[in-house]
Amino acid sequence: MCGIIGFTGKRRAQEILLNGLARLEYRGYDSAGIAYFRDDQAHVSIRKTAGKVHDLRAVCDKDNESHCGIGHTRWATHGGVSTANAHPHRIGKVSLIHNGIIENYHELCSKYDLTSTLMSETDTEVAAALFNKLYDGDPIACIKKATPLFVGSFAFCILFSDHPGEIFAIRNVSPMVATYAEGDGAFIASDLTAFIDYSKNYFIVPEYQILHMTKDGIDLQDLNGKPQEITYLSVDWDVTAAEKEGYAHYMIKEIHEQPQAIHRTIDARIKDSLPYFEDDGIPDSLFSDVSDITIIACGTAMYAGMVGKTLMQNKFGIGVNVVVASEFRYERPVISEHTLVIAVSQSGETIDTLEALWLAKKHTEKTLAVVNVKGSTIARESHYVFYTHAGPEIAVASTKAYSVQVASMYLLAAKLGLVLGKTSEDAVKEFLDGLRCVPDLIEKTLSLESRASALTKRMINAEHAFYIGRGLDYTLSMEGALKLKEISYIHAEAYAAGELKHGTIALVSEGVPVIAVATQSGVYSKVISNIREVKARGAYVILISKDRKISDKSICDIHLSIPDVRDELAVFPSVVICQLIAYYASIGRGINPDQPRNLAKSVTVE
Ligand code: M6R
Repeated sequence: MCGIIGFTGKRRAQEILLNGLARLEYRGYDSAGIAYFRDDQAHVSIRKTAGKVHDLRAVCDKDNESHCGIGHTRWATHGGVSTANAHPHRIGKVSLIHNGIIENYHELCSKYDLTSTLMSETDTEVAAALFNKLYDGDPIACIKKATPLFVGSFAFCILFSDHPGEIFAIRNVSPMVATYAEGDGAFIASDLTAFIDYSKNYFIVPEYQILHMTKDGIDLQDLNGKPQEITYLSVDWDVTAAEKEGYAHYMIKEIHEQPQAIHRTIDARIKDSLPYFEDDGIPDSLFSDVSDITIIACGTAMYAGMVGKTLMQNKFGIGVNVVVASEFRYERPVISEHTLVIAVSQSGETIDTLEALWLAKKHTEKTLAVVNVKGSTIARESHYVFYTHAGPEIAVASTKAYSVQVASMYLLAAKLGLVLGKTSEDAVKEFLDGLRCVPDLIEKTLSLESRASALTKRMINAEHAFYIGRGLDYTLSMEGALKLKEISYIHAEAYAAGELKHGTIALVSEGVPVIAVATQSGVYSKVISNIREVKARGAYVILISKDRKISDKSICDIHLSIPDVRDELAVFPSVVICQLIAYYASIGRGINPDQPRNLAKSVTVE
């Protein structure tokens, strides 16, 4: 989704803006632009393009000396991909960039007679026109008047051309962080990655508070003019975590980071082989009277929730409902005060998940966020937070975030099982001792990378592919199929292996890739029968299983043998193989897996 960077201070702004935008590229975008005070005087210049940051760089002045400006990467919502629709937008003395959606922009246009000033098709330009209309030389007064008129989500960064060196900002829902770095100046961005080169400290711009940045500092006040305290946070990762460090893409780097990410997520939460959440401030009382669980999430995070469901329900008999967050609001949620609602999100900013969480909070005070980004909105809005520690995930395709989410589900399942008296301490100890071996398991599985790469050569011309499995292998298959779709554009679907013959097998013809996962001993022979059924119809079968060797050609064309692990842990090595298959299929098709078409890393519009 759209990205924001703003800077005012002692350094030259243009390089900070362009580098910041380059760091935000991972969010997904289709056009980019900057606005800055030319020669630090009372005049704002704009450079923008329907293209990438390197295209923007090409239209920027080489010797730009400005020390104050704002920059934006746009992911089109209202209006197509064009230079006119790219941000910043300037109307009169107001130049602004915007993340979010102004839902009432039509009404604002007619009520304030703004149409004649507009040059683009965007809701953002309407906001610029409104700010300009209400501007009488006092930026703060203008923001106070305009802000209550907007319906929707917004993070605005605004330059008023008669206030050189100053940046004003305000937000609702759409995230924005800022910092003042001594010696450099003031930074603002849609996420910390944009200015991590300059500061590991940051604060979350509170909603409906006006931020005023100059080269000397940052002030915050509410809409009544009351000064507000700024509370700084810091991150424990640095700029290298947000760089490729020699890997060809972020995605493959992040696949390789999974062992460490899991260590960071589980180690401190297992004490004497039992789940230990005291340092997270999560009391056992949260779980003690839980009657059922609802998991709300989107995409990969939801598939991690599906693994959680299979585990919690099958192992401990706890009823779990996994709901697509964007649908949750339109269903009648069956939630009581004893329902534990778990919101899973890497970014912590996914608007569908956030809206679902807000709705859930009307029914229960037991909400728990499983979130990767510290201080993100979902983390702040939930009653409790269980942080995953994947570190920054830059590639659009989620990999290490999925693994740590799944690992978190295992920890939560163990805790629930114990607190609810569904299992014994000894069983949980055995279960968690197994979980501790997962980083090593993943390390071993990564040694299959060249085989995974080689097998994709037979897949790159495929139009369709299928993932099949039963039980945990089925839930894992959903993630495998999503990964392949989003970065290789091969249409892929996951099916419960037993369901194929109820319709889908009609689509299986000569050469269609079927990735079959058979790691669950209780259903192994049934899955093998299902595999034979597709093999007999010409499928190109890639089998992932714990068998050391499969020489029977009527079962599969390729066999990838994962380390011999307990069934419930097989998800971890299996998903690594699925990630590698997707990655190499993407490369084989000449696609940049880090920035697949049409997709954004963090989906902050509904
Ligand atoms: O930040 P979130 O975990 O809330 O994001 C949810 C989905 O948008 C995300 O998992 C998406 O499906 C990924 N691109 C999948 O790789």
